[in-house]
Amino acid sequence: MERYADADTQVANWKEATLVYTAALRQINTKLEILNDEFQHVHQYNPIEHIKSRLKTPESIVKKLKAYGYDSTIENMIKYINDIAGVRIICSFVADIYRIADMISSQSDVQVIAVKDYIRNPKPSGYKSYHMLITIPVFLSDRTVQAKVEIQIRTVAMDFWASLEHKINYKFEGNVPEHVRHELIECSRMVAALDNRMQELNEEIKDCAMPR
Ligand code: GTP
Ligand code: MG
Repeated sequence: MERYADADTQVANWKEATLVYTAALRQINTKLEILNDEFQHVHQYNPIEHIKSRLKTPESIVKKLKAYGYDSTIENMIKYINDIAGVRIICSFVADIYRIADMISSQSDVQVIAVKDYIRNPKPSGYKSYHMLITIPVFLSDRTVQAKVEIQIRTVAMDFWASLEHKINYKFEGNVPEHVRHELIECSRMVAALDNRMQELNEEIKDCAMPR
């Protein structure tokens, strides 16, 4: 009987946790939309191309907890899994990534827990992206919960690279052939070169007067 009661509590806790993370994703999405609109108003362009958000699946949470060596409990999940709520922001230019990161950090209710700049320090795989782990308050009827959200900010070109690399890794279950790995690193260099040239081009034409 006690075991059933315990299971009921775990189910209730799971539902509450899901509700909190879903609310956190909604909050951050609204914030980003407002920032994008304001940026459009001030600078006449949108730094954000698009935003994707997702909640980590229960299977994937359990798999990660196991890999970390923790029991699959709601407490452990909240404490140790940082990417239950995940947001990916795709921009056109590298400079926009840092602008958006600054705008997020400056929000008075957002607390930045950690930053990993894989643009300045790419992963050995060639992976580039700007990662932020933040907390955002979720206001419930009787209390406020600080929910963790993992934010990844990258350019369209970096996103293109990351999705193909992810597909390749999945296909080879991590054992990617040497020549494919090299090719990916080379493509990552090309992505960086393209991002630089596109940004320079954009800077150049920004200052040009429109022909009549
Ligand atoms: P996990 O990879 O989530 O266990 O966390 P971590 O502590 O290693 O954090 P990190 O910031 O390095 O990576 C978090 C997320 O970034 C991953 O879940 C992926 O979405 C993405 N990522 C990190 N490295 C790579 C990579 O080499 N290739 C691709 N395609 N995505 C990556
Ligand atoms: Mg992850």
